[in-house]
Order: sequence, then structure tokens, then C-alpha cells
Amino acid sequence: MSELILGIESSCDETGVALVRTREAPGQVPELLAHALHSQIEMHQAYGGVVPELASRDHIRRVLPLTDAVLREAGVALDAVDVVAYTRGPGLAGALLVGAGVASAMAAALDRPTLGVHHLEGHLLSPFLSADPPQFPFVALLVSGGHTQLMRVDGVGRYALLGETIDDAAGEAFDKSAKLLGLGYPGGPALSRLAGEGDARAFKLPRPLLHSGDLDFSFAGLKTAVLTQAQRLGQALPERRADLAASTQAAIVEVLVKKTLAALAATGLQRVVVAGGVGANRLLREQLDAACAQRGVRVHYPELHLCTDNGAMIAMAAAMRLQGGLEQPRRDYAFDVKPR
Ligand code: KG4
Ligand code: ZN
Repeated sequence: MSELILGIESSCDETGVALVRTREAPGQVPELLAHALHSQIEMHQAYGGVVPELASRDHIRRVLPLTDAVLREAGVALDAVDVVAYTRGPGLAGALLVGAGVASAMAAALDRPTLGVHHLEGHLLSPFLSADPPQFPFVALLVSGGHTQLMRVDGVGRYALLGETIDDAAGEAFDKSAKLLGLGYPGGPALSRLAGEGDARAFKLPRPLLHSGDLDFSFAGLKTAVLTQAQRLGQALPERRADLAASTQAAIVEVLVKKTLAALAATGLQRVVVAGGVGANRLLREQLDAACAQRGVRVHYPELHLCTDNGAMIAMAAAMRLQGGLEQPRRDYAFDVKPR
């Protein structure tokens, strides 16, 4: 029997709500009926980064109107919802508690179960929201603001970690370098935009662990190298900013692409899924596509607007776990969040 899953994402600076319908055939991809998103980026911009307290307050303001909008768009009444899913973590504790609290209250009032979803599993499964979803098994490159991981994915819930960052995440490398260059928050898109006007060969920056022989990443050294270059340039930084941005982006992207190719070689798989905010990066997409095309490897991405945090990926992950028989939704409403 198919079920209606309402999903709520509130782990950081986006409030997302979505409605997904499970399918009767276990192998079929659940269907996205509607989703809505409110980004807090503008609100946090004045502070140069996410202010946790403000984030929580804004989630509280947005989550019910967004839920209402989603149900209206889908033409579904609230009491037709079968399971209320929410992001359990990782993320900002106060922000997570808003989603978990609202989801649990809604579920208790409706006498329906809840389901806590791992935020990264949401990202990982987000390419299943696209018109041409991937097939298992595949290598996943998960690149967000907080995580950089390569995984072997054999099915829903069947994830083997192949490698990960030993310090900063790829998104963090973008964000911190952007800050050093005097660019605003969020740094990734800003740095990538500026990089489009610069010469990527202008500065020699390190490619940490590129030849380490394993599938781990390290980006902390790159950030230090960007700082050193910026200090060396001093007064001349403004006119070389685009070149430094382009060189930084090229270094991050080269490491991500080479390690992904190494993961393909190590697993013998012919499919890659890229997920998480950095998956929106154009250079990464171009270089990975080109390298994989040469090797006959298929690359799947989430739709551009679903790369960063959203409710659709949370509802989808919950639906895929339910459909795969991996979950017993909870009815005790003693919700917990896992910030880390
Ligand atoms: O997945 P996400 O929305 O949130 C986390 O779960 O962390 O990822 C946010 C990260 C930020 O570091 C942001 O700068 C980066 O993704 N990002 C980008 C781009 N768009 C977002 N990095 C590089 N290029 C982009 N176009
Ligand atoms: Zn995320």
C-alpha cells in the first residue's frame, strides 16, 4: 500500500518541507508530490555566516506556512499524511529541534508515526528526485558544507565508507577561502562566480593527499596556502582576487575528481552520484563529466536547486527507507536530535 510521507528539513539555514508518496513495488522510486523551501541566506548575510539562534527562530516562523503551502500544492489534507519525517541530524541543535518538535507534535495530533532521517542520507538519495534517477550500485561523492565522503552504495541503507576528509570539508574549503578573499556568505557560490573571471593557473596551490594512495581528503592546508597568498599579495589582492579564486576552485575540484576516479577504479563500478551543496559547482560538474565520459561512466547529480538543503530529499530518504522495509516509524514522540 502506498503511503504519504511529509518531510521537514531544518538542520541549518534552509527550512524545507515536502510531500512524497511511496510506491507499492519496492524497486520503484517514490514520487515527489510537492515541496517548498525558505532560504535564510539573506538574513544571515549581514553577519557573514549562520547565526544559530536566528536560524532556529526563523525555522519556527516558516515551518507551518511551508507545510500548508506543500499540502495545498499537492491537494492533500493534513490528516491524509501517513508518516511525518524530519531531519534528526547532523546540524545545529536548536535548528534541528524545531523540525523534530514540529514533526512530532504534528504526528501526535494526527496519531501517526514519525521517522528521523540522517541529513547526509537525504543528500545521498537526492538524485532519486530527478527525472532520470540512478540505479544501484554506485560510487557516491558526498560534498557538503560539513562533510566530504566517498561511498560505495549498494542499495538504500547499504553504504560502505571508502574515504573521507581528515580535516575540513570541501564546502568548508570553499567557504573559508571565500572569507579570506573578502567574499560574502555562503562562500562557495560567491567564490565560484568570481573564479569564472580569473585564471586558474595563476597561483600554484597544494592538492593535499592527491597521491596518498587512499580515498581520504584534506583541505585544511589549502586554506592556509590561500591565506599565505592573500597576505603576500597585500595591497595587490583586489586586482588578483579572481585569479586566486580560480586557482583555489581548481585545486579543490581536481582533488575531488581524481579521488572519485580512484574510487571508481577501486570498486570497479561504472556509475557515480554526486550530492551535497558543492555538487552545484559548475567546474566540478564539467570536469567530472569529461573524465567520466572518457571512461564510459555515468554521472548523476541532483537537480541544481536540490543540491543544497531541502525538504524533498528528507521526505524521499524516509520514503525509500520505508519502502525498503528498513524502518519501523516511531509512535512514542520522544524525539531526539543528533547534532553531530
Ligand atoms: O549540502 P549543503 O547545502 O549543506 C550542508 O549540509 O552542509 O552544502 C552547503 C555547502 C556550502 O559550503 C556552500 O558554500 C557549498 O555547499 N556550495 C558550493 C556551491 N553551492 C553551494 N560550493 C561550490 N560551488 C557552488 N556552486
Ligand atoms: Zn546539507
